Amino acid sequence: MWNFGLPYKLKQLIDLVAQRNYLFTYDGKQYGPLLHVEKAIVVYTRGSRFLEGTPIPPSRFDHQATYLDVWLQLVGVRDLRTVIVDNAWNRDRQESEVSLAKGKATLGRLVEWFLTSSRAAAMES
Ligand SMILES: Cc1cc2nc3c(=O)[nH]c(=O)nc-3n(C[C@H](O)[C@H](O)[C@H](O)COP(=O)(O)O)c2cc1C
Repeated sequence: MWNFGLPYKLKQLIDLVAQRNYLFTYDGKQYGPLLHVEKAIVVYTRGSRFLEGTPIPPSRFDHQATYLDVWLQLVGVRDLRTVIVDNAWNRDRQESEVSLAKGKATLGRLVEWFLTSSRAAAMES
């Protein structure tokens, strides 16, 4: 997360590749995907922890996951799983390490899911 949104290099990449009739269709009324991506995993890192009921609720401050999730689904990612690693860069080093360890553990489980269902799909085809 940079300034509550995406780092500009990632946003620039999206702006370069996201052309109508290449990654998505738009008929003036609705959008349609042109990619067929069975699944994807996104890891979102943030310096802080955004929680509802605190001065930095995600409903107001998260323009990172909200944007990228929508964009990936728009272009054709069907099953999207996400891992949020928050507190990645704060004053409490221990808090950061706990958050990173939790993120790694969650990602490890998701990688299992990603590889297992990929293999099953490959065997079916
Ligand atoms: C330019 C810049 C802007 C940032 N803006 C935010 C922010 O708005 N909110 C936040 O929680 N963290 C912010 N961070 C912290 C990063 O999200 C955090 O360090 C994250 O771990 C960076 O991930 P990376 O090392 O994979 O780039 C910012 C960091 C940088 C360098």
